[in-house]
Amino acid sequence: MYQPIEECRICGSKKLTKYLHFGMMPLANAYVEPNSKEKEFGFPLEVLFCETCALSQLSIVVEPEIMFSNYSYHSSISKTFQKHCSDMADQLKGYLKKPNLFVLDIASNDGCLLREFKKKGFRVLGVEPAKNLAALANAEDLETMPFFWSEPIAQKILQKNGSPDAIVATNVFAHVHDLKNFVQNVKRILADEGVFIIEVPYALNLIKKNEFDTIYHEHLSYFLVKPLKFLFEQEGMELRDVQEMPIHGGTIRVFVTKKENKVFLYQKNRVEEFLAHEKKEGLHDLKSYFDFVNKLLDIKIDLLELLSKLKKSGKTIAAYGASAKGNTMLNYCGVSSDFIDFIIDETPEKQNKLYAGNHIPIFGYEELEKRKPDYLMILAWNFAKEIMGKTKEHEKRGGKYIIPIPHVRVVSSAVEL
Ligand code: TYD
Repeated sequence: MYQPIEECRICGSKKLTKYLHFGMMPLANAYVEPNSKEKEFGFPLEVLFCETCALSQLSIVVEPEIMFSNYSYHSSISKTFQKHCSDMADQLKGYLKKPNLFVLDIASNDGCLLREFKKKGFRVLGVEPAKNLAALANAEDLETMPFFWSEPIAQKILQKNGSPDAIVATNVFAHVHDLKNFVQNVKRILADEGVFIIEVPYALNLIKKNEFDTIYHEHLSYFLVKPLKFLFEQEGMELRDVQEMPIHGGTIRVFVTKKENKVFLYQKNRVEEFLAHEKKEGLHDLKSYFDFVNKLLDIKIDLLELLSKLKKSGKTIAAYGASAKGNTMLNYCGVSSDFIDFIIDETPEKQNKLYAGNHIPIFGYEELEKRKPDYLMILAWNFAKEIMGKTKEHEKRGGKYIIPIPHVRVVSSAVEL
C-alpha cells in the first residue's frame, strides 16, 4: 500500500535526514461512515530533508489510487479560490497577448479554474483522476478527462486539441511522486511559446509560520524555489518567474517555459531574490527544520490547555472546515470528540461522516444554528476570513473563534485576524 523513499525525488541524492515524526496517522481525507466496520489504516507520517537540493519530502508514498480516485475536496466551495482563479485568467491574458488561448488544467478538481477561465474567453480542458469531480465538471460543460496525468493522456490531448498555450497545475505538484515524468509530459505538449504555471504551498511559510498541519500523506513534497529550479533545469525547462500569493497560507506561483521560449519574460532578479531570501532564512540548512519541529510542541500544549480550560468551565466547542490539515492538527494534538463536539463543512460528501482517526462527526451549517456552541475552532484557518463572514450569527450571539496557526489564539471577529 506504500513505498519507502530511498532517494530525493528531485535530485536523486541519498543524503536524506528525518526531522519530523508524527507516528502513525490515518489518511487525512479518508472520511469514515458512522457505522462502518471497515478497518481504518494508519501510515507513518515523517518528513525528510534533502541536504543536496533542500526538498522536504515524506518518507513514504501511499498508492495514489487509494487517495485520489474518489476525492471529497471541492475547489469551488471557496469563493476565495474562485476569485484567485479569475485573477489568474486576467494575468495570463496580459502575459500571453494572443486571442483564443487554450489552457489545460491538470488535476482540475470540480472545474473551478476551468469555469473562471472559460468566462474570460479561454478554450479550456481539464484532466482529473477523481471520477466524482470530473463528472461534476463535465455536467457543467467544462470538458474534463477522468484520468491521472500521464504520457498517453498528454499524447491524446496533443492529437485532438493541439498544444496548450498554458498548462496550469495548482495544488497538485505536492501530490506527485514522479515529478520528472510529470514535467516531461508537460514539455511534450506545451506550445513553444507557452507557459507552464504551478502553484504550491511555499515551504518557507510552513517553517516560519508553523503550518505543520499542511503535512499529511497526500503532500509528498514541501517546495522551496531552490529544488524547483533544479527540477526544471534538469528537464530542459526554465523557471522564469516566481510570485507569492496569499491563498492557502502562502503559495508560490511559478512560471516555467521551454528554454528556447523567446517571448515570455525572464524575471531573473525576482527568482534570485527568492533564492537569496530562502538562504538567508536558513531554509537551505537542516538546522532550521529541527528548530521548527521544536516549536510544534508549544502549539500542542497551548491548544490542549485552552480546550481543557474551556471544557472545565462548561463551554461547548465545535469546529469549522473538515479540511485535511485539520485532521493532522487534531490527531497530532490528540484532540477528539471529548473536546470538539462536531465539525461543520459545506462539502456534501463530508457531511454525516466522521473525521478520520479521531471520529468527530461532520455536519452541514444547520448544525451550528441548532447547537450554538460557544467556541468554533477554525480548522481551515487559511479561509478564516471567509468562514467568519459566513458565521455572523455565531459572532452576534457572542460566540468566539479559536485560530490554531501560526499560534493558538481566541478571537471575537474577523477584524482581530
Ligand atoms: P482546505 O483548507 O482548503 O484544504 P485542505 O483539505 O487541503 O486542508 O479545506 C477547506 C475545507 O473547509 C473544505 O472541506 C471546505 C470547507 N469550507 C467550508 O465548508 N466553507 C467555507 O466557506 C470554506 C472556505 C471552506
